[in-house]
This record gives sequence, C-alpha cells and structure tokens, in this order.
Amino acid sequence: MDEVSQSILAVEGLSKSFRGLTALESISLEVIHGEILGLMGPNGAGKSVFVNVVTGFYRPDTGTINFGGRDITHLPSYALARLGIARTYQNIRLLRRMTVLENVLVATKDHVEQPFRSVLARNQSSFVTTALALLEQFHLADKRDWLAGALAYGEARRLEIARALAGKPSLLFLDEPAAGMNEQETEELAGTIRSSHQMVEAIVIIEHDVAMMRELADRLVVMDSGRKIAEGRPNDVLAQPNVIEAYLGTDGPDD
Ligand SMILES: Nc1ncnc2c1ncn2[C@@H]1O[C@H](COP(=O)(O)OP(=O)(O)O)[C@@H](O)[C@H]1O
Ligand SMILES: [Mg+2]
Repeated sequence: MDEVSQSILAVEGLSKSFRGLTALESISLEVIHGEILGLMGPNGAGKSVFVNVVTGFYRPDTGTINFGGRDITHLPSYALARLGIARTYQNIRLLRRMTVLENVLVATKDHVEQPFRSVLARNQSSFVTTALALLEQFHLADKRDWLAGALAYGEARRLEIARALAGKPSLLFLDEPAAGMNEQETEELAGTIRSSHQMVEAIVIIEHDVAMMRELADRLVVMDSGRKIAEGRPNDVLAQPNVIEAYLGTDGPDD
C-alpha cells in the first residue's frame, strides 16, 4: 500500500527492441515522490531509449508504465506532457529562430493545454512574469531577447530545462543535461537543478558525471546492455564491482 502511494512512476517489465537489437530488457523501476533519481550506465545501455519509451516517443514491446496511479503505457507524448511529464533531450532541441523568452513562453502551461493560441496573444504580463522568473532562475534573464540559436552551449542547455519546467510538470526527465559543459558550468547546473527540484514532484536525471550524481541523486539506477544492473544509494551503487566493471568495460562517456 505504502509503496503504491509513494511512487509517482512505476515501470514494470519494460522491453524494447530495434530490429533484433534489445535496447531495453524487462526493466522495472519506480520513481518515488520527492526524489531525484539518477540513471547511469555506459553509452548504448538504453538510458535514452528508456526515457523515450516512458515519455511516449517510442512504444514499448512489452511492459507497463503507471504514472500517478494511472496506466499510461499506450499514451502518446503530447498526452503525457499534458498529464505532467516533461523532458529535455540529449541533443538540444530549441526553437533557434525564436527569442529566449519566446522559447519559454510557448512552453508555458496554458500553451500546452491550448496549443492553438498564438504566442503573441499570450504575450501578457502573467505569462511573461512566470517565464521571466524561470529565466532568472536559470541565469538567462539578461538574454531574454537573444535568439535561442545565438546562445552558448551551456546556456542553451539551461534554456532547455527552463522550457521543460514552463509546462509545470510533476515529473521531469533530464537526458544528460551537463553534456559538453565544463566543470564550473556543471557545478552551477547541479545547483540550478537542485533548486528546480522544488517545482516538481520528482526528477529523473541521466548523467555520466559521478560527482554530479553523488551530489544530486537520492537514488541511482544503473543500466548496462538494456538491463538494470544496480539500484540503491549513490555511494553504495558506485562502489559495486559490476557497476565499476560496466563503466570500465567501455571507452567511457563519449559525450
Ligand atoms: N531509434 C532507434 N533505432 C534503432 N536503434 C536505436 C534507436 N534508438 C536507440 N537505439 C539503440 O538502442 C541502444 C540503446 O541506445 P540509447 O538508449 O540511446 O543508449 P544510452 O544509454 O547511451 O542513452 C543503442 O544500441 C542504440 O543504437
Ligand atoms: Mg543517451
């Protein structure tokens, strides 16, 4: 009973293959209310496929996905966004020819619910205030009128997260948000993610940076070759021989 009420997302026996390649093999895991769950594993482990399946971009071959007590296994991504599941992408996806502020405005909650209202019509104070507060939080307020395409890499990554939060999601997936960032940017980002945590019920973060994961994650799940190979407290999991082996067995993170 307790377990059910505590988990915001419950995934059971999730599998996904691409032409004979098994990307996910019977993955079961839960995301607990209030936590930051870290998802680690060498490249090709299936982390992004997992996010793509859970957020409705890919259909699973088998398994069930339960979100907030509701079976969402077969719902498409736009329906899941409306229900409160947001994500960022491993490869940044911004509206490069729109301004930084517009990128956040089009993602605000009302827009998700009423996609046909124009951005201009919504250029009203309450939306702008909310969007600007987000930009402030992500240290982008002074660049509100820049084209998103003109942002530096680390800034673009931060804007992606601000945009995802604009839809007021309850569950946020971050797919390698610190990829390509230097140490200082990564540290700053960790702080920003920590503060964003108060705006959502739970965060699932994919990241190779061990220091960042130790700092951020309440729990870690490690995947290798489409399987879950470890789960638990970060310090315990990172000390597990099979986890170390999984990382040493490859050339390490390539991005
Ligand atoms: N759309 C796709 N079509 C075919 N194979 C895919 C597709 N997406 C991912 N894969 C394969 O699934 C495996 C897991 O990929 P992925 O989840 O992206 O790994 P990672 O853990 O690095 O995020 C890889 O072998 C990858 O090539
Ligand atoms: Mg990936």
